[in-house]
Amino acid sequence: MHEFAVDPALPKPALYRELVAAADALTAGEPDPVANMANLAALIREWVPDLNWAGFYRLLGDELVLGPFSGKPACIRIPLGQGVCGTAAAEKATQRVADVDAFPGHIACDAASRSELVVPVLRAGEVVAVIDLDSPSPGRFDADDQAGIEALAELVAARI
Ligand code: SME
Repeated sequence: MHEFAVDPALPKPALYRELVAAADALTAGEPDPVANMANLAALIREWVPDLNWAGFYRLLGDELVLGPFSGKPACIRIPLGQGVCGTAAAEKATQRVADVDAFPGHIACDAASRSELVVPVLRAGEVVAVIDLDSPSPGRFDADDQAGIEALAELVAARI
């Protein structure tokens, strides 16, 4: 239904600009949050190389609960403040972890994951979800990846 052409030769900032534009086109006018998160997880996997997991956890009460994702089955509930995801949600701040084994309390869902990027999705200043990207390569994520996924989080906040 939707065909997006990903150019792997694009420099990262341009790649993420195109990802955000594709995400905008894909979710515009669709009010269902699950449908949008499902498509966004698939889009991230198509667009961003060298990932083994990408998806959403939603903040429900004081726990993060697994949402739509692409990758191996994952931990379902993460208490606020725990793991990389729970830390991002509790601190309302992106966590960019070069070596997950060095992160105190990291929750290993897929043993292949070596580095991780978790970006909180804020609506009216409150966390509603996090976007979680895992890579099998150590130090996979840099400032451009962080800026790109933060731009995506800002776009999708009203649509998930
Ligand atoms: N590693 C995460 C758990 C989620 S999975 O990576 C999909 C964490 O420490 O919060």
